[in-house]
Amino acid sequence: MRARIFPDYEAMSAAAADAVARRVSEDPSSVLLLPTGTTPLGMYRRLVDLCRLGDVSFAEATFFNLDEYLGLLPDHPASYHVYMKEHFYGLIDADPARIFVPDGAALDPEAECERYEAAIKESGGVDVCVLGIGRNGHIGFNEPGAPFDSRTRVVTLSESTRLVNAADFEANRAPERAITVGMATIAESREVLLLASDTNKAKAVAAALEGEVSESMPASMLGHHPRATLFLDEDAASGLGQGVAG
Ligand code: GLP
Repeated sequence: MRARIFPDYEAMSAAAADAVARRVSEDPSSVLLLPTGTTPLGMYRRLVDLCRLGDVSFAEATFFNLDEYLGLLPDHPASYHVYMKEHFYGLIDADPARIFVPDGAALDPEAECERYEAAIKESGGVDVCVLGIGRNGHIGFNEPGAPFDSRTRVVTLSESTRLVNAADFEANRAPERAITVGMATIAESREVLLLASDTNKAKAVAAALEGEVSESMPASMLGHHPRATLFLDEDAASGLGQGVAG
């Protein structure tokens, strides 16, 4: 896993967007596995701009999302369905038939997880996975302790993650569970880009990059990945080289 450090959020986002756009231009039928959160917003903005300028087309690409809250209807304002539509899928030339987001409102969530994992497999597997990182090192909704051999499944969110995400919900209460693509599925992606910005990610970034590869720090799994790159702004990189990784 290598790290690229950029002076600020905009530069980091532009570099990540350019890397994704380049990949899709080389292979228009690329399969992308994508994150939500505040971190990728700049990347999505630039990808939308590039698409509008005609510099990249997503018409042949396939999209999967990493996760969704369990129990939310797809039109819930805090759902990742709505987030992706508003910030990316609704603004580009994507084919709706090739956009997949886990159905958090599925009557049988376990069956939904199996269906989702099978759809990723049927697509030929993920070419480019873009990740954010939680303050506790989670990727997707794979919280610390998530087995490296896990697949798409229902997970219980940690209290700290629910607190961080609470502001998106009425009464400041985030759902207790979610569907997330598993660690093994992420690891099998041919290329992984992990984006981090802000000092509140510095500790997790340092642990992921400089600490031991361990299920207690999910992002550290990328240490074993042949093509994983961390895209960091200077704030997110501020904990590197200080022996804080532990
Ligand atoms: C959420 C998402 C993750 C995301 C992370 C960081 O819980 N499930 O996929 O990477 O939190 O979000 P942010 O970029 O807002 O810090």
